[in-house]
This record gives sequence, structure tokens and C-alpha cells, in this order.
Amino acid sequence: MNVLVTGGAGFIGSHLVDAYLARGDRVTVLDDLSSGRAENLNPQARLVQLDLAGEPSPLLDLFRREYFELVNHHAAQIDVRRSVADPAGDAQINVIGTLNLLEACVQAGVAGIIFASSGGVLYGEVPGPSAAETAPKQPLSPYGVAKLAVEHYLFVFKQLHGLHYLTLRYGNVYGPRQDPQGEAGVVAIFAAKLRSGEPAVIYGDGEQSRDYVHVADVARANLLASERLELLNRRPAASIDELAFNIGTGAATSVNRLYQLLCRQLQLERPAVQAPPRPGELQRSLLDGRKAQRLLGFQPQYDLEAGLGLLD
Ligand SMILES: NC(=O)c1ccc[n+]([C@@H]2O[C@H](COP(=O)([O-])OP(=O)(O)OC[C@H]3O[C@@H](n4cnc5c(N)ncnc54)[C@H](O)[C@@H]3O)[C@@H](O)[C@H]2O)c1
Repeated sequence: MNVLVTGGAGFIGSHLVDAYLARGDRVTVLDDLSSGRAENLNPQARLVQLDLAGEPSPLLDLFRREYFELVNHHAAQIDVRRSVADPAGDAQINVIGTLNLLEACVQAGVAGIIFASSGGVLYGEVPGPSAAETAPKQPLSPYGVAKLAVEHYLFVFKQLHGLHYLTLRYGNVYGPRQDPQGEAGVVAIFAAKLRSGEPAVIYGDGEQSRDYVHVADVARANLLASERLELLNRRPAASIDELAFNIGTGAATSVNRLYQLLCRQLQLERPAVQAPPRPGELQRSLLDGRKAQRLLGFQPQYDLEAGLGLLD
């Protein structure tokens, strides 16, 4: 298959590139290298350095030339605090950039697109044991609003233009190549601090919990989604939730526990520093993954302890 991976020089995208190439696909990466790095890139993939949020004509030219069969969209501004400080800047990349991509898909007759959404930011505080795809959406940041907006655009593009799609709503993804400088990847941040001897900071009481999913599992979920995209799009969707899939492990781990597990894994024993809770931070985020298991055949292979054993 001829696949375009946007954001393919980034953390998750670069693992998808490896997975598609291993499956025998031809892979082009579209990335502006704003947070991604050329050294993440598999040498068998071709890099097109382009800003999705820029002038759309180079993007349209690329699509007209290349006849992509599948687009996997992982390019994004992923810093939640940056989205709070500059909501318009966030929307320019995460909403307008995505719309440019969807327009190019429609104009070039691309068969389908997979979109990286976030179960961690869409659902807000969940009253039940875990959030199913149909749980109420309550994003608490402009970044989350942009993810939800794109899910709605995809739904509408399917109705209006017949563009097929699937949305994957990830938990907290971790693994090799995650940027420890960002604010998104607590596993990478803690690991870097522990290795450098600088104190790691735990905000609040550290009992806030998340659904941590290893990037190798996320890559597998994307391959399964790529295989099932056509089939799952055969009938019209009734809501944005119908073609959305939570991708997590179904296990909640507190920040305190994560820190302990990492200390054990790295065989380093350093106390973390406590800091006041961060406003707007969720207490608990846990995804119900049963739909992905049923319809995509996805089951995570790594629990957190096993996944931490695979860090760089
Ligand atoms: N990391 C997580 O835990 C997590 C959780 C849920 C969803 N996601 C989503 O998964 C996707 C990938 O996240 P990641 O953690 O790999 O982040 P990342 O920052 O490593 O990757 C994003 C990539 O997009 C590129 N990019 C940014 N703006 C661009 C633009 N305007 N044009 C072209 N390329 C651009 C960056 O250079 C980078 O390579 C994002 O959509 C993110 O929102 C990530």
C-alpha cells in the first residue's frame, strides 16, 4: 500500500513508519520537523518537509503526484499548556492544518485516513470505572477542543465527500523516542531526570492516575485499524463515536506508582520533589478498550511493567 504518515518524524509517527515498512508498504512522511527529528526516521521512508498549516498548494501538488491510498495523521502541536497560552496557534496547526489535509485527501480521492485523537483529553473526569467511546466529551484545554473538532470534521467529511476514516483515542503513550523536553510524556521526563540525577517533580499528591500504553501496542493498533478501515466504513456512521476506538490497557496507574516502577526498572533510587497540583489536571483517566478488542482485534501486549522494560 502507498501510505502517507504525517508527523512520521515524531515519537509515535516514527514507530508507525517502521510498522508500515515492516508490513511491506511504501511510506512517505510529511513532517515540518518542528518537534520531530530526522534521526527518528527509518531510512526506507521518504521525507517531505512541509508545514500542514501553511499555504495548501504544495500539499495538493504532493497528493496529486503521489496517489496515496492511506493517510495516517499524527502531525500535531501536542503541548497542552502551549494550547492554553496560544489557542489560535494551536488551532492553526491542529484544526486548520488538519482541514488542509482532509481537503487534499478529498481532492486526490484518498481511500481512507486514520486520525490520532486522545482519550486522555476528550472525556474529562469519568464517573464510572472507565470511559467507553460513548462517554460524554468534556475537553478542558484548547488542545482537547481541537481533537474533538477534528473528530466532528471527519464525521462530516465522510457524510459530505465519502472520505473513509477511523479515529484512535490513545491513553498516555510512552516508549522509545519520546521527547523528554516536552510536557506530554511523563515516563520520558521521569526517566531523563532519574538518569541525569536531577529531581523529578510530582504535582499534587501523586495519586492522579492514567492509562499508560506502550508505543509498540499503539503501532499495532494502527496496523489493525488500517486493515479494517474499509470494512468498518461500509455503512454510514451515526455519531463521531461510531468510528472511534479507545487504545489503552484498561489499567490505571498513579504517578507515584509509575515513579516507583521506573526507579526499580532503572535501578536508581531518588526521591521525587512534591509541587502544588496543576490547575485543570484530571484526577483519573482510564479507557475502556473493549470496542477496539471486539472490532479491531486489538489487545495490548505490554502492561506498564513490561513496557518500562523496553525503554531506551
Ligand atoms: N503522546 C501521547 O501520549 C499522545 C496521546 C494521545 C494522542 N496523541 C497524538 O498522537 C500524535 C503524535 O504525537 P507524538 O507524541 O508522537 O508527538 P510528536 O510531537 O513527537 O509528533 C508530532 C509530529 O508532528 C510534526 N508536526 C507538528 N506540526 C506540524 C505541522 N504544522 N506540519 C507538519 N508536521 C508537523 C512534528 O514535527 C512531529 O514530528 C499527535 O496527534 C498527538 O496529539 C499523542
